[in-house]
Amino acid sequence: MAQTKDQPANGARLGVLTAGMGAIATTLIGGVAAVKQGLAKPFGALTQMSHVREGERRTPLAEYLDLPRLGELRFGGWDISTGTCWDAAQRAGVLEPMLLQSLREELSGIEPMAGIHDPQYLRRTKGQRLKPQSNKFEQAEALREDIRAFRKQQGVEQVVVEWCGSTEVFLAPGPAHQNAKIFETALKQNEPTIAPSMIYAYAALKEGCPFVNATPTLTVDLPVMIELAESHGAPVCGKDLKTGQTLLKTILAPGLKQRALGISGWFSMNILGNQDGAVLDDPAAFRSKEESKLSALNHILEPELYPDLYGQISHQVKINYYPPRGDNKESWDTIDVIGWLGYAMQIKVDFLCRDSILAAPLLLDLALLSAAAQAAGRRGVQDWLGFYFKSPQTPQGRPEHDLSAQYRRLQEAFGQLAAARRAGAAVR
Ligand SMILES: NC(=O)c1ccc[n+]([C@@H]2O[C@H](COP(=O)([O-])OP(=O)(O)OC[C@H]3O[C@@H](n4cnc5c(N)ncnc54)[C@H](O)[C@@H]3O)[C@@H](O)[C@H]2O)c1
Repeated sequence: MAQTKDQPANGARLGVLTAGMGAIATTLIGGVAAVKQGLAKPFGALTQMSHVREGERRTPLAEYLDLPRLGELRFGGWDISTGTCWDAAQRAGVLEPMLLQSLREELSGIEPMAGIHDPQYLRRTKGQRLKPQSNKFEQAEALREDIRAFRKQQGVEQVVVEWCGSTEVFLAPGPAHQNAKIFETALKQNEPTIAPSMIYAYAALKEGCPFVNATPTLTVDLPVMIELAESHGAPVCGKDLKTGQTLLKTILAPGLKQRALGISGWFSMNILGNQDGAVLDDPAAFRSKEESKLSALNHILEPELYPDLYGQISHQVKINYYPPRGDNKESWDTIDVIGWLGYAMQIKVDFLCRDSILAAPLLLDLALLSAAAQAAGRRGVQDWLGFYFKSPQTPQGRPEHDLSAQYRRLQEAFGQLAAARRAGAAVR
């Protein structure tokens, strides 16, 4: 078959580098391998399972947007812990041992590259596989070199970088994050307010790679990163994948609001026993998560517009590290609802979910869709991808949290990407 511009000789079309290869990243990579082998189906990934309506016809989304097939993806990444992707998947304990055995060859072939670590941002983890550079600018240069080498080795033009590392301690934007010039000087001076995740983001954007922030940390939600994304033609999106409890919250809250039911309290409790849970046991790391988990309800309910209905709401979120459950999280919500004449009612939700099983398909969609956005000439913040996040990144203004409204926005963007693709094809 003749080779086209989009299909290099080895069949690869898109590289995906994950910075951090723990539970969510290995569940993504292992999951894609399992689907390719026909061992399982990609539930939860719109790009693999959903269709777009075109008049009377239903077209698979992947075909509609001409997305790379799973066999055309190449994975790699960085991690500060030792072992291959297979070792990491075993440590994470998400996929069943029988399934993992079938994936051994493919996952053992992926050896994470040495990462960068700063104990100030990740206080309970000891970095074991680290780049030798201690200057932040030199670390960024080394990461850029890794991206270029991966591109060459794998024969891929387009590479998406996904930040899947542990949650870093809470940080507010500061003077060093204001623009590229200041940030570069600050990198050279080892400025303490530059976290490792920002160095990965900087390196990715300088190499023109779309960047996805799967975690609650600031990372690309900073003026400097938006400037770099714009100037290097790279889409960016984040923060914090909308997986279990927040997904349900953003489905339920808009419905209660549409019925003009009041809410006086929403108490959310989680127990989880994976490595992410252990990291979030550090109050400074939990603060990043808490900020991200709390914002959704406020934005949906608009208490300032509806003071009678939501003005007094007490919204609390707790996460407890509870080792026996591993990656199988349990999330309880108790919602205090107020009906006609102020009569009180309660709703209880108990979601027995699997954290990384919910996160992996989102990472797959985000890699494919941010690459498609870049191919259509989009750059900078992609607020239509807010559907996938707890704290959607927006260029300006109020972020949308209501899942149905986010879904409509996503569908509109699919139409625009498909039109751009057709126009590009017509010009060619
Ligand atoms: N699991 C979910 O449903 C979910 C949902 C939303 C967000 N997240 C976020 O995704 C992130 C990853 O979650 P996880 O469950 O995979 O955690 P994990 O602890 O299993 O994996 C994190 C990995 O990142 C590595 N790491 C940490 N700092 C690094 C650095 N500076 N460079 C390279 N590697 C680094 C660790 O060694 C580890 O292997 C967390 O921040 C979590 O809050 C997870």
